Amino acid sequence: MWVLGIDTSCDDTGVGLVREGQVVVNLVLSQALHQGFGGVVPELASREHLKALPRLTQEALAQAGVAPKDLALIAATRGPGLIGALLVGYTFAKGLAWALERPFYAIHHLEGHIAAAWPEGLEPPFLVLVASGGHTHLYEVLGLGQYRLLGATRDDAAGEAFDKVARLLGLGFPGGPELERLAGEAEEGVPFPVPLRDQEGYDFSFSGLKTRALHLVEKGLPKAALAKGFQEAAIAHLAEVVLRAAKAAGHGALLVAGGVAANRALQERFKEAGLKVHFPPKGLSQDNGAMIALAAWRRHRAGLPPSPLALGATPYWPLEAT
Ligand code: KG4
Ligand code: ZN
Repeated sequence: MWVLGIDTSCDDTGVGLVREGQVVVNLVLSQALHQGFGGVVPELASREHLKALPRLTQEALAQAGVAPKDLALIAATRGPGLIGALLVGYTFAKGLAWALERPFYAIHHLEGHIAAAWPEGLEPPFLVLVASGGHTHLYEVLGLGQYRLLGATRDDAAGEAFDKVARLLGLGFPGGPELERLAGEAEEGVPFPVPLRDQEGYDFSFSGLKTRALHLVEKGLPKAALAKGFQEAAIAHLAEVVLRAAKAAGHGALLVAGGVAANRALQERFKEAGLKVHFPPKGLSQDNGAMIALAAWRRHRAGLPPSPLALGATPYWPLEAT
């Protein structure tokens, strides 16, 4: 059974093909035209998705050697995200589903990230941290489509903080991978205080780290040591909150998903914790279409119904409401 998944929630055009839960093709076109603006320009993102999507879809089908009629399910990200960008992929996918007379699955972007990190055979309940450019959210997964929010960022998302500090250091966008590379050049990091150490809940905060980075850049401290110090504190913060929650919940398994999950220092830190931690396979942590197809495949297999074509896309959509 072939499943087509499309994600156009932000600035990456993602088209993926999944067969019986296995990723076969996963094409991601990262839009370069936002570089000069220091952030994503929503209207430009929508237009780029529109240009790229038909070609990328044809290429994905050709690479897999399947015809449109071979597709059994069509899925797309319904939200959250930039509404104009979402609408392009969502409407395109609905059009395909209608023309091919196939079931359509409207997928929550975070359920896609979770599906990408969720290994076959792992039964809920477990905890999942989604750390990306738009989210730093900790959930308890009680079942597919059953999520309980335990904590979230009070200010910036983790990936957003990596991006902003990278920018302070004169690195390109997205900054996470470049900051990680620069941090690797330093022997020792400049110390950064770990945020929210005395809270009782499971929230996150990155704005203090960002401000400290700005002060240290203005003081002219070496950039690699600064990058390493920031990265260490950000990872220590994520690990402390999440591992404390995992211990309290007592589930023993944990997923770390989203773009930031690709960070190797973060993976090392979580692996030291002594519980089963699962990360997305390479290429599936950043925004992509295959994760949306994986979520739809799981929903279909669990007997959850497809979505009506009359359902619209939405920029705000709490995961708990799926
Ligand atoms: O999941 P994603 O592709 O898009 C969103 O849904 O936001 O995540 C992108 C974010 C960016 O902020 C990027 O800088 C960050 O993930 N990221 C990283 C790394 N790779 C990507 N952050 C830290 N270390 C990395 N290696
Ligand atoms: Zn994402």
